[in-house]
Amino acid sequence: MARASFNTTSSRSESAAEPELDAGTEQTRRTLLLGALATTACLGCSTEARAGEDAPGSDERPQKGDLLVFSEGDQEGKPVTLADLAAGGPPVHAWPKDPKTSVVRSASRLNEILIIRLDPAELDEKTRERAVDGILAYSAICSHAGCPVTAWVKSDVGDKDVFKCMCHNSEYDPRAGAQVVFGPAPRRLAALPLALADGSLSVAGNFIGKVGGAQPG
Ligand code: FES
Repeated sequence: MARASFNTTSSRSESAAEPELDAGTEQTRRTLLLGALATTACLGCSTEARAGEDAPGSDERPQKGDLLVFSEGDQEGKPVTLADLAAGGPPVHAWPKDPKTSVVRSASRLNEILIIRLDPAELDEKTRERAVDGILAYSAICSHAGCPVTAWVKSDVGDKDVFKCMCHNSEYDPRAGAQVVFGPAPRRLAALPLALADGSLSVAGNFIGKVGGAQPG
């Protein structure tokens, strides 16, 4: 039908117009097809995302008996074992995982955990009591404005490595219950009691202390 409207033009212009018309029609067809495919793919993604968000327990705080699994890197999703923790740091970033349902509690960023292995002789008394073979776990969420604590670097106020939040440079010493040693953070990181059995780490109790930031970023 559309092609008929070009019949009044010269044969030269017709031969030039036809390919253009065909190309335009083809382009439209492709666009529609790609649009439909993209919509389908997107629907698939959002369904998947909703399914992940909706997994029962995925946003609950760590529960006693939860396993600890890597939250990033090549080993993401695999259990954190004693052998994975280098003595003296750096920390491993982990999520709690329900061993019965296999649900990883990653729907809440407040559940991310730092696990570090230190020399027990370096720990203060209270921290040593909670450590398992020098291993400690803390919330990975800065108590200042809730950024993730991502760095393990030499402190600005000493010669030891510390946890550091790069948003506003707060530093926490894991040897002393993750107390604040530098920066604007108002309180220490919440601590998570651990258990170690057959080389694998698990959660031994609820967070000690408040998790999350004191003010909006
Ligand atoms: S959010 Fe970490 S220092 Fe501000």
